[in-house]
Amino acid sequence: MARLPIRIYPDPVLRVRCVEVETFDEEIATLVADMKETMIAAPGIGLAAPQIGVESRIALVDLSVGEEESEFYVLINPEITSGEGEGVEAEGCLSIPDFTEKVTRPTQVSVTYQDLHGERHTLQADGWLARAICHELDHLDGVLFVDHLKGLRRERAKRALRRLIREQES
Ligand code: NI
Repeated sequence: MARLPIRIYPDPVLRVRCVEVETFDEEIATLVADMKETMIAAPGIGLAAPQIGVESRIALVDLSVGEEESEFYVLINPEITSGEGEGVEAEGCLSIPDFTEKVTRPTQVSVTYQDLHGERHTLQADGWLARAICHELDHLDGVLFVDHLKGLRRERAKRALRRLIREQES
């Protein structure tokens, strides 16, 4: 396994619409293992493939950050099929360091996805798991959590993003 560098805003790969995974082979298994190691080391509760520069529809979520294997989800070609409720909690993102802000998300989602063998599953998630899934799936369409912010929260986010642009330039 290898720890991979995490892409930081404004890296353009974070704005790409990722492509579906069609071949479920050893290469994908290795990539997912590397992503898992990278996510845990960060540490983070989720990581999407574009965050390590890969434009594939793969997202990992693990609220336990490597402590509980049962909480680790590999979501390949995931799709949210329904969402309910509305909750507001502070989120952050490994690609937008040192910035958190409250984001409105559904409190329950149903998601279909494929596993490392290409088998299809349906997952009902609520609370923080639902939130983490929404956040990571957004990444697969080039959407960042700051894109959901409005008003003063959006202004705060803009300042944080401008700081990141300056840091990445220097
Ligand atoms: Ni993120």
